[in-house]
Amino acid sequence: MTAPWWLGGSLTIGAAGLEMAGRSVAALAAETDTPLYLYDSARVRAQVAEVRAALAPFRDARICYAMKANRFGPILDLLRREGADIDACSPRELAVARSAGFASAQISVTASSLSDSDLHAFADAGVHVNFDHAPTLRRYAELVPRGTRIGLRIDPGVHVGYGVNSRTDYGDSRLGLVPEDTGDALMAAADAGLVVDTLHMHLGWGLRARDEADFRRALGVLAGLAPRVPDLRCINVGGGLGGRLRQADEPLSAGRWAAAIAAVFGHGGPTIACELGTHLVATSGMLVARVTATWTKNGEHWAGLDVGQAANVYAAHYGLELEFVVVDRPLAAATERLSIGGNINESGDVFARHRMLPPLAGGDRIAILPAGAYGSSMASDHCLRGGFAERLLP
Ligand SMILES: Cc1ncc(COP(=O)(O)O)c(C=O)c1O
Repeated sequence: MTAPWWLGGSLTIGAAGLEMAGRSVAALAAETDTPLYLYDSARVRAQVAEVRAALAPFRDARICYAMKANRFGPILDLLRREGADIDACSPRELAVARSAGFASAQISVTASSLSDSDLHAFADAGVHVNFDHAPTLRRYAELVPRGTRIGLRIDPGVHVGYGVNSRTDYGDSRLGLVPEDTGDALMAAADAGLVVDTLHMHLGWGLRARDEADFRRALGVLAGLAPRVPDLRCINVGGGLGGRLRQADEPLSAGRWAAAIAAVFGHGGPTIACELGTHLVATSGMLVARVTATWTKNGEHWAGLDVGQAANVYAAHYGLELEFVVVDRPLAAATERLSIGGNINESGDVFARHRMLPPLAGGDRIAILPAGAYGSSMASDHCLRGGFAERLLP
């Protein structure tokens, strides 16, 4: 039998079921109660090492961790020790990154709809900011010394990624500059005394193997603009490298991703920066929950959980498929067609519909994967049911 796609890092199957870092997941969940986000340091380290190896041939490369994916303190601490820098998108993310030990020079900001107080916070911290348009960079110029370096975020209008939809695809979205408007933004920056040293893009979520040519095409758009940026030092390719997040995925590998960058910019050109969230932490995490009740409605068999979209919006917001593993019998045969509901009073609070799963009964613990990215960081307290515990295993 082939191993399930979600095994890896220190996540294994032992005598008592799922184990992480040699510890029984059931026992860990019993210590803190559910819902519990459990993260695997070994998996995070392996993901960073993979990207670092892919970027090794470049003269200069920088891995910025997109902390919007997961800002749990021990994860930030681990990534800092692994040598990552930070991509922050708000003053509070910036403050959290700084208190996690990241220096201003290690923090790159890519954010949108910026208020005066946002701009003040970035200016006071002295971090590098990538701007979406001319009006905001003009306001920023009033707060910073002449000669301050900034980036421009470009929208190459390319549509890529898992389940391309308006929630995960950034091509032609409200974000970034279309290439035709870049000249105006460059002129506005020069007039305001700012130095553009970075061209940035973020295409969206979950690059697939078959997106390689489109990814290259988007990089080509940045390369086409580069001659108009005399002080260009850095190409920031954003995030979007996803890895396998479901059995059926055929992700763009870190190696092919880096090869596409090298094909356009070479190895000896500008610094290559990236802002990876999903790739670094998604598969490191699981959300452990308990089945609270089972019922049948209109012939559809449901299992309800002690967690819902308040603590994990992955399925409800992005409409993405998750894996459900019974903690004490991870390899049990999928013999029942089940739907999985959350504990929030919203008809859309559904984790899965009509999935073949092992039989479930009240009290069963299930692990929901992947849950390392855009899980805890997107939690709300809707229905006052947003509580959860988090733990990073060494
Ligand atoms: C500007 C920017 N950079 C990086 C990321 C991280 O993306 P991912 O988790 O797909 O790597 C995002 C995600 O929304 C983003 O908006």
